[in-house]
Amino acid sequence: MNVYDSDRMADVLRPLGYSLSNKPDDSDMVILNTCHIREKAAEKVYSELGRMNKIKTRKKNHGSNMILAVAGCVAQAEGDEILRRAPFVDLVFGPQAYHKLPEMIARVSRATGAVLNTDFPAQVKFDHLPEVMLGSGVVEGSSAFLTVQEGCDKFCAFCVVPYTRGAEYSRPVSDIIAEARRLADLGVKEVTLLGQNVNSYHGVAIGGTEWGLGRLIREIAEVRGIERIRYMTSYPADMDEELILAHGEIAALMPFLHLPVQSGSDKILKAMNRRHGSDHYRQIVGRLVKARPDIALSSDFIVGFPGEKDSDFDSTMKLVKEVGFIQAYSFKYSPRPGTPAALLNNQISDEVKTERLKILQDELNKQQLVFNKSCVGRTMPVLLDRLGRFNGQMIGRSPYMQPVHLSAPEHLFGTIVNLHIDVAQANSLAGSLEAVNHGKNVA
Ligand code: 5AD
Ligand code: SF4
Repeated sequence: MNVYDSDRMADVLRPLGYSLSNKPDDSDMVILNTCHIREKAAEKVYSELGRMNKIKTRKKNHGSNMILAVAGCVAQAEGDEILRRAPFVDLVFGPQAYHKLPEMIARVSRATGAVLNTDFPAQVKFDHLPEVMLGSGVVEGSSAFLTVQEGCDKFCAFCVVPYTRGAEYSRPVSDIIAEARRLADLGVKEVTLLGQNVNSYHGVAIGGTEWGLGRLIREIAEVRGIERIRYMTSYPADMDEELILAHGEIAALMPFLHLPVQSGSDKILKAMNRRHGSDHYRQIVGRLVKARPDIALSSDFIVGFPGEKDSDFDSTMKLVKEVGFIQAYSFKYSPRPGTPAALLNNQISDEVKTERLKILQDELNKQQLVFNKSCVGRTMPVLLDRLGRFNGQMIGRSPYMQPVHLSAPEHLFGTIVNLHIDVAQANSLAGSLEAVNHGKNVA
């Protein structure tokens, strides 16, 4: 979501004459787009701000100005704190305010102190953002993000998202379809529907009815040119029948799903305020596999949530071994100010968290490698969406999101080709061209 947001900020700023630069020293403005999900991410902001202030000061001494802005969820959660700890910052704004960047920049230029904007209305933002453009990061190559939903009402006990991103908001169906068509016209073949809680999507369609994500995906699959559809991130309890069946019925829907379970212990899931137990999760997976037998899963895990005993962690390991994940993210629990779990007094020591994380990650890495190896010898449709470092090298994505390295003539860039998978590594595959498929869905 932050990658998408950064790209949209660039879109908003382009008409003002700004263009993207990766060198702060040469830049008129630096925006730190921040993440507040775990403590480490939030801490980084302040050290990075110190570094940027040095550049800002150097530029000032040479008579030029640099606007320094902090965007994203740290800005949302700690706006005043940022201005207190880093008074040299010019602009602080939350995830719902970046459509107002031109206005905020004008205010900074008139310069009477820093500008703080941490309002919440997601709808207003979407109504005021420019159309996605070619050349913007959102539409790089032939794969694009499309935000369908923002915010979250679930209030998991560990999570800051409901506080930083605000209440759940689903964009209207017609806006999303119009954006999907525009993306397809720009040459996009794969869309990833984005939302903090994407499968709780309940947007209003023409006639005033509400559509869930399954119905929306069906409609997007009808958009000519869109050959692949993905969505993230999903909440297990919101996997309804229509969405599960869509996996079996819509060929464009890729057979790979990120479905975070967080823990395999019912006691911990309850304490986390998750609305699913471990067996409920197993059932959902069973129904998905029934609908789409070649589906594979990825997940998020938190170890060391307050009160997690060895037996709870064992339940997580049991679930991991039973379900099998081809990819996963796992984290030590990080207490976030303002969330209920941070106040619990049965916190787990860092030592125990480290130990559990290592055991979990060893198993997850093993499963990922086993899956990657099982791909060797298979033919897979791969979307060639990145150029490699050397001439003739390209990197594509398999249906399972594995990066696939290959040599290919340049004219194939942006197309889906059938590749023979020759080599598997921990995090990627290598393949060779077998047959080329133009424009048809082969997944
Ligand atoms: N501590 C550790 N991990 C967290 N996540 C969210 N909040 C926390 C926290 N306080 C993880 C969850 C979520 C992912 C995006 O980040 O696993 O699914
Ligand atoms: Fe956070 Fe996801 Fe829980 Fe919402 S559903 S509170 S985003 S972990």
